Amino acid sequence: MKIITIVGARPQFIKAAPVSKTLRTEHEEIIIHTGQHYDANMSDIFFNELKIPRPDYNLEIGSGSHGMMTGRMLEKLEEIYLKEKPDFVLVYGDTNSTLAGALAASKLLIPVIHIEAGLRSFNKAMPEEQNRILTDHISDLLLVPTEDAIKNLTNEGIKKGIHNVGDVMYDAVLMFKEIAKSKSGLLKELDVNSGEYILTTIHRAENTNDINRLRNMIEALNESGEKIILPLHPRTKKFIEGYGLNFNENIKVIDPIGYLEMLMLEENSKMIVTDSGGVQKEAYFMGKPCITMRDETEWVETVACGWNVVVGTDKNKILDNIRNFKPTSIQQAIFGDGNAAQKILNIINERR
Ligand code: UD1
Ligand code: UDP
Repeated sequence: MKIITIVGARPQFIKAAPVSKTLRTEHEEIIIHTGQHYDANMSDIFFNELKIPRPDYNLEIGSGSHGMMTGRMLEKLEEIYLKEKPDFVLVYGDTNSTLAGALAASKLLIPVIHIEAGLRSFNKAMPEEQNRILTDHISDLLLVPTEDAIKNLTNEGIKKGIHNVGDVMYDAVLMFKEIAKSKSGLLKELDVNSGEYILTTIHRAENTNDINRLRNMIEALNESGEKIILPLHPRTKKFIEGYGLNFNENIKVIDPIGYLEMLMLEENSKMIVTDSGGVQKEAYFMGKPCITMRDETEWVETVACGWNVVVGTDKNKILDNIRNFKPTSIQQAIFGDGNAAQKILNIINERR
């Protein structure tokens, strides 16, 4: 069969690494990169390091408002779908690229496969929540990573095409964890020892676009007295500069890094403090306590089992948890067995 895969943002490249490799053992895959992320360290580095097949098309959409990005993607995707006539279009997660990929396909009656379906924050102000709800409602195969995701879909009246395959990000961690060890020279470069630093990321729109939230988070990190490594997303960099916020010397701010470097830094950290979806899960896979600087999370299982705490952006709450949070239970296999890609292939094959 011919499957078109849509990617555009950093976490989608990482998710595609195990899935594309597996799909290509039996099917023809065409990768379309929307160009939503385009800096070398937000895009090319992942294709190179993770040996993801080169995109067949790059739409070069770049940055812009939600409507502009999504609209431009729709127009170009429709043209390619009409030319390529795929049997399926496969989309990941909840970005503008996800929604555009699914909507363009749905209008042409091409079946949509949604990987990471069924997640909800129940906060419709989030662009991601809008993207995931809309995408789920026009998808034919809803491949969910967790049991809770099934409940979310059935509560919205979606009952057909749902399969729990586990989390493809767990596949990716298992695939690359060993070779990520080769990047440990970065610890020396950053002058930190294994087990002695906190790894942090911040990029959510609701956190960066509000000066009070961003200031609170940075003040908490500044005042923690901990050694902190912060690979900074370009969105956050732009806002921090715009607001004139400053970091203390205990925080090492670096440019975005490749996935292997990131896995290595996660594995050697003592704790992870983040607002990222993917990084919350990786904290769990790596057995690290996670503090989530958001008002809610889609990854509720990590909280329920005591390895993640959702603290919002209150400075004192962040500081208190950096000092005192400790996981309270033994980890469970809540994200499957690391074979999500093979399960996805099997399910697609049933539709032959
Ligand atoms: C997007 C996703 C978000 C996901 C994140 C992963 C949407 C609505 N949001 O957020 O769900 O968690 O990707 O990282 O799709 N920029 C650059 N260079 C780049 C890419 C972005 O400088 O290569 C800057 C631009 O100023 C841009 C801003 O970052 O305006 C935001 O980029 P955008 O793709 O709109 O959203 P993200 O915040 O990256
Ligand atoms: N990541 C990376 N380099 C970085 C920051 C993050 O490789 O400098 C990886 C991280 O390990 C995870 C993914 O990017 O696999 C998460 O993406 P991001 O936080 O941008 O988006 P989200 O998961 O919140 O949508």
